[in-house]
Amino acid sequence: MASDDLVIRIAGEGGEGIISCGEILSKAVARGGLNIHAFRTFPAEIKGGLAMFQLRAGSGLTLSLKQRVDILLAFNQEAYEAYVDNLKEDGILLYDPKLCHPDDRMQGSRQRELPLEALSSEVTEGTRAKNMAALGAALELYNVPVEYGQKLMEEYFGHKSEEVVNNNIKALEAGYQHSQVHYTEFKRRFDRHPDRDQILVTGNEAVALGALAAGVEYVAGYPITPATPIFEFLCKELPKFGGVALQYEDEIASLAAGIGASFVGKRVMTATSGPGLSLMSETLNLASMAECPLVIVNVMRGGPSTGLPTKTEQSDLKFAIYGTSGEAPRCIMAPVSIYDCFWQVPRAFRIAERYQIPVIVLTDQSMAYTSMNIDTPDLDNIARFRRLRPEPGTPRDGFKRYALTDDGVSPMPIPGEDDLRYMGTGLEHDESGAPNYSPENHEAMSAKRFRKLKALGERITQQPMEEYEPEGTEIGVVGWGSTYGAIQEAIEMLKEREGINVAHLHPRVLSPLNEWRIRRFLGPLKKIIVPEENYTGQYSHFLKAKFGIRPIEVHKCQGIPFTSEEIYDAIKEEL
Ligand code: COA
Repeated sequence: MASDDLVIRIAGEGGEGIISCGEILSKAVARGGLNIHAFRTFPAEIKGGLAMFQLRAGSGLTLSLKQRVDILLAFNQEAYEAYVDNLKEDGILLYDPKLCHPDDRMQGSRQRELPLEALSSEVTEGTRAKNMAALGAALELYNVPVEYGQKLMEEYFGHKSEEVVNNNIKALEAGYQHSQVHYTEFKRRFDRHPDRDQILVTGNEAVALGALAAGVEYVAGYPITPATPIFEFLCKELPKFGGVALQYEDEIASLAAGIGASFVGKRVMTATSGPGLSLMSETLNLASMAECPLVIVNVMRGGPSTGLPTKTEQSDLKFAIYGTSGEAPRCIMAPVSIYDCFWQVPRAFRIAERYQIPVIVLTDQSMAYTSMNIDTPDLDNIARFRRLRPEPGTPRDGFKRYALTDDGVSPMPIPGEDDLRYMGTGLEHDESGAPNYSPENHEAMSAKRFRKLKALGERITQQPMEEYEPEGTEIGVVGWGSTYGAIQEAIEMLKEREGINVAHLHPRVLSPLNEWRIRRFLGPLKKIIVPEENYTGQYSHFLKAKFGIRPIEVHKCQGIPFTSEEIYDAIKEEL
């Protein structure tokens, strides 16, 4: 269990460089050999409003956001007011006395001045580098040598100017020294392992890397927060692997282009967020109808409408499963962690290609922007799959692109490579692809398309699922997506503190369901808790409808993810 960690929350005004400070700190601390979980939340505006970065780092496992923090580093009064109550009993406030004035909620011994603006002005003649003074102070508290921070200055600010780099190095050193002199008693010493074979990635980066590992060939995108970094990453990297990434005029056009690329045999992906997914819905139906495989990564954010563009929510599940006119088979997946993003994206490509269906991968803003260090994935272990093609020499006459097969999958020719012609259309069609509206045909073709989901459902029953079933337990938690780490840590806490065993199930393929396995898990349980980051309990409704159960719903709809403490409290209340 992760008790061996230090949680520092850094907060101030958007534009002051809170995020840069947190990012560089995370990188330096991870390179210094600690495990990290680094979360950020910020307003939708470019400047102004409250920005927060929380680093949890140590030698133990760090799987989730913590509610209570060891150190609050407040750049201004707003940051203090927002987060002072999150300090642990023995937590410490570090604050800039020029902009923050603690009140009697703090006792003298638990607060220390950290004159960020003064430290920056002393060494740089300005306050711009004050966030690097904060970085220096935090680095020293993690007992990570200052060189780890210095090395990153060029990487972060080199494109601005040499002067900016030098100023930031000076401020970093000033903050580091200040911390050495004034906060020695708060410094924590951890077992550090700087030589591990690891990479530091955000969820968005893990998705993009997973797509490259899967052999993606065509990415058609339109920028939208919080999915944009996936597209930006692939625009930069995909051409190096011979692929193409193109921006279109909107989400509808990007998915339409993706269907075109899939039609001619390419492995295709697009990344979007809620409002983009809803725009895509009709085109998505076309992919189901024309049986064109492709992967859509939907990074969920607070909705509806423009909603909370920079905040997290698990609220697109129902739309992903049911948001269709007519009945359009698709597969819905949700990685359970940042590491898992890397592995589930290639799996999504395999499913899309094997069953010739669209696959929607649901991540969310918190997963997308949280960074963790993960073991460098073994690329040789990533299986790729190409769709079924017609046998060479298949005669042109009478070729049936949409032949009615047992598992619903029929060979898909590649124009220009297979000498076979067919019409791929959104209209209902017969086995050859020609439009056909007869009652018998529509029924037979609907059944064909849905047989693919049945075959997929049977296949995933054989595949591993995140499942923890201690002997004799009668209480269990079922979750999905990014809540995995918080649930897992809450369950560990219950075992350690109360001696109580709680089961945990976290399916990665949400639709079609792994029915047999889920039934087996639910069978012995008297209480089932379903925590979700939405207002209505979307997954819970889905489980109720499928299994006739009455789970205890725990909802959080605040734009920030569950902490393990919240899940712990929710389970304990039910006990
Ligand atoms: N020296 C020089 N430059 C520095 C610096 C330093 N010490 N510290 C930070 N900066 C620069 C950063 O490099 C960054 O510059 P860039 O804009 O050229 O990249 C800028 O100052 C902002 O700093 P950063 O740390 O990245 O962010 P912040 O903590 O100040 O918060 C955000 C600003 C992140 C809230 C804001 O920029 C943002 O992106 N808002 C969200 C926008 C959005 O997605 N809206 C939704 C639309 S639907």
